[in-house]
Amino acid sequence: MADKPTKGLADVVAASTALSDIDGKAGLLFYRGYDIHDLAGRTTFEETAHLLQHGTLPNRDQLADYGAELVRGRALGSLVEQNVVEIAEKQEPMEALRTLLSLTSADDPDKDSNAADANLRKAARLTALQPILVARFHAARRGVEAPEPDPDKSIAANFLRQITGKEPTPREVEIFDECLVLHADHTMNASTFAARVCAATLSDMHSAVVAAIGTLKGPLHGGANEQVMRTLEMIDPAGVADAVRAKLAGGEKIMGFGHRVYKTEDPRATHLRRLSEELGEASGDDTYYRMSKEMEEVVFAEKGLYPNVDFYAATVYHFLGIPTDLFTPVFSVSRMAGWTAHVIEQHADNRLIRPDSEYIGAREQKWVHIDER
Ligand code: ACO
Repeated sequence: MADKPTKGLADVVAASTALSDIDGKAGLLFYRGYDIHDLAGRTTFEETAHLLQHGTLPNRDQLADYGAELVRGRALGSLVEQNVVEIAEKQEPMEALRTLLSLTSADDPDKDSNAADANLRKAARLTALQPILVARFHAARRGVEAPEPDPDKSIAANFLRQITGKEPTPREVEIFDECLVLHADHTMNASTFAARVCAATLSDMHSAVVAAIGTLKGPLHGGANEQVMRTLEMIDPAGVADAVRAKLAGGEKIMGFGHRVYKTEDPRATHLRRLSEELGEASGDDTYYRMSKEMEEVVFAEKGLYPNVDFYAATVYHFLGIPTDLFTPVFSVSRMAGWTAHVIEQHADNRLIRPDSEYIGAREQKWVHIDER
């Protein structure tokens, strides 16, 4: 008979990883031993993806090679080209992303191989492809052509230009790039766990990241950033405290607060709060930033909960001109770096992930013929 389960697998160590580490009491996050506070604002998303997938921060030559691989990896396959318009008509953004990403395996020459070199090539292609898929989806649903990505520009610069249709300022690119770095990996979060469970059956990287995208979509995980913005849009700026208290009194969870692992401030929220403040001031209307600050104070006073990564990411993306329903796809664009690195790690030292369950159903049932039920 199985032991009593830990509900939600809280505190259960499900895998060994050299990719990221969290100290939930101290509020620290490390990517391969580097403190996120040292990486944020100093290391680009491309360098961070290389760190996670290849194991080291790249030198200039390695970064140039990896950058060239990313540029080559942007080519969309024929299945995406043929279907993106209909998908954009009929599916919501995360649903569409799940479908589009799945279609890309058809044109991947390494799709059937889990070998280390094939996995590294696929990791780069998936990291490069995903922002283009989001941009193509967004263009298709508006009936316009997405601007071509510029091979000399970063993922952050191209994405902002493709989504907003405007040339972002250098500072906007830096800020968005920092957001991508902050979301790139986070130990055994739900979507990464889903990716590893899939990979551990010796299924392929595309299947694993499709499982991860489906898992990220939920409002208790990546979907929270969109819900944060929807909440801010619904609340009267003069009535933030009352609105939060009313939600709590009604037993509602406040999106963007609380975390399974952090018992103090999420270190990513520290950076995102600063970026939200900067962009709010620069926009000339920092209402949403000020409302967020007030929400943070009220939720802490009422429940002792801290904002998580999704809370201030919402206003940062809003101030950058990203449509609210693309916030979770943006999270996915970043987390692809971590998911793919976890699949590489899982395949390198694999064992099927197959936990047990505690049976709580009826026992000793007597079968009766269908005519007698
Ligand atoms: N608002 C109000 N109360 C909350 C919140 C919240 N955001 N988060 C937790 N609580 C309360 C719960 O109601 C519960 O109270 P109780 O013990 O009186 O019933 C207690 O704190 C523990 O909450 P759980 O949901 O059991 O904690 P768990 O570790 O399972 O969940 C989670 C963590 C899912 C992040 C939770 O805090 C939550 O739902 N937050 C809102 C959604 C969100 O922001 N998700 C993004 C997380 S970050 C990420 O995935 C990228």
